[in-house]
Amino acid sequence: MSLWGTKPLSALRQEAGADTMSRVLGPVGLTTLGVGAIIGAGIFVLTGQAAAQYAGPAIVISFVVAGVACAFAGLAYAELASMIPVAGSAYTYSYATLGQFVAWIIGWDLILEYSLGAATVAVGWSGYVVSFLRDLGISVPAPLASAPGMAVLYPHHGVTDPIFNLPAALIVLMVTLLLVLGIKESARANAAVVLVKLLVIAVFLVAGASAVDPGHWQPFIPENTGTFGEYGWSGILRGAGVIFFAYIGFDAVSTAAQEAKNPARDLPIGILVSLAVCTLLYIAVALVVTGIVPFRELGVPDPIAVAIDHAGIPWLRFLIKGGAIAGLSSVILVMLMAQPRIFYAMARDGFLPPVFGRIHPRFKTPHVSTLITGVVVAMAAGIFPIGVLGEMVSIGTLLAFVLVCFGVVVLRRTAPEAPRPFRAPGAPVTPLLGAIGCLYLMAGLPLATWLRLGGWLVLGLVIYFGYGRARATAVLARPTPTA
Ligand code: ALA
Repeated sequence: MSLWGTKPLSALRQEAGADTMSRVLGPVGLTTLGVGAIIGAGIFVLTGQAAAQYAGPAIVISFVVAGVACAFAGLAYAELASMIPVAGSAYTYSYATLGQFVAWIIGWDLILEYSLGAATVAVGWSGYVVSFLRDLGISVPAPLASAPGMAVLYPHHGVTDPIFNLPAALIVLMVTLLLVLGIKESARANAAVVLVKLLVIAVFLVAGASAVDPGHWQPFIPENTGTFGEYGWSGILRGAGVIFFAYIGFDAVSTAAQEAKNPARDLPIGILVSLAVCTLLYIAVALVVTGIVPFRELGVPDPIAVAIDHAGIPWLRFLIKGGAIAGLSSVILVMLMAQPRIFYAMARDGFLPPVFGRIHPRFKTPHVSTLITGVVVAMAAGIFPIGVLGEMVSIGTLLAFVLVCFGVVVLRRTAPEAPRPFRAPGAPVTPLLGAIGCLYLMAGLPLATWLRLGGWLVLGLVIYFGYGRARATAVLARPTPTA
């Protein structure tokens, strides 16, 4: 079997019909899942920092730029998700389109998006919780809420002897337990949290709008300082690379394909509607935040709460922090839900040991892979700082998006007749634009992040050639797929 052997679409469709998990999610449930995954640390934490350091009020334009790249990628995801409604997302799509080797690379790479993504948001969650508790007069000792990796990477961060980010690890473990108990319960908890999150953002927009001083938008695009990425148009682009993180998550909808009631119709709805809703909200929030606070003052861990202080509505501060905490929890939930389902798909294909593919007889969840994921992510959240985690998530996700976009182009040529309940309009131009846009955003990320990605991929190659390749090839050679 060559490295480029693809998994037949017929086998994937057969797997899609195998009801190993409960089909409980409709269009609203899937859209809620998407919004739950998307709105999180990106808007609540990174917007302010990107505005302060790179783009100024023009961070609004950065949101449009990143949103357009994500929309093209979203169309590609929607087409593949409707064609191949099997758990596993980009991993599964690339197995059907670009072959075994690329499938492994993408599956391995998706660990960066989902596992490290959950860890990143957990660190953001910890920051908001510590700040919320401080407002209530309860102080969490700084060394117990800081990453030990920080001392090495950021010697001037101000915390002496950081030990472990305990709150970040604890929230990961709590969400993991919820996920083991069942997808339906998790989706319900998620829906409640998403409502709270949307409500808080709406209250912020309404209350904040009256405090906007248009003078803060002058100049809308601050002049470049002479260094690439510091304001001006290059700042807008760098800002787009940073706040790209805020859009990550719409693709998580596709990982729940086997739990969707009518995946062919509802997955594109879930992906595109959640992306559209979030793009509009982000643009509105960015406008209001930069209209209330001079942008240079936004480089703080809780920029939305700071904006409310400037607006002179202190009681809202509690609500905003509470909403942010709830919002970040739901992002962690969806990401921790997605990862074990990708492991499930990879185990079924032979890339990972069969234990990752086990489904709990009563809870009907992939409990073993959920627990393994939870423990590893909790450790990562406790040890690494948010900046390093976030950049790894962005570069890994962008790589996945590039491959998914190429997958659509390839499959249109190799399987032109295959049923496509949803067709990406304008293909192959739109997926190609999506790929180019994502590559461009990747190019803006620092060299150190590229080197870490390289190291991660080399480790993946060792595992592939040492373990996965032979087993996956044997599974592919079987006449009928096994669940
Ligand atoms: N988009 C998600 C967030 O902003 C990952 O937290």
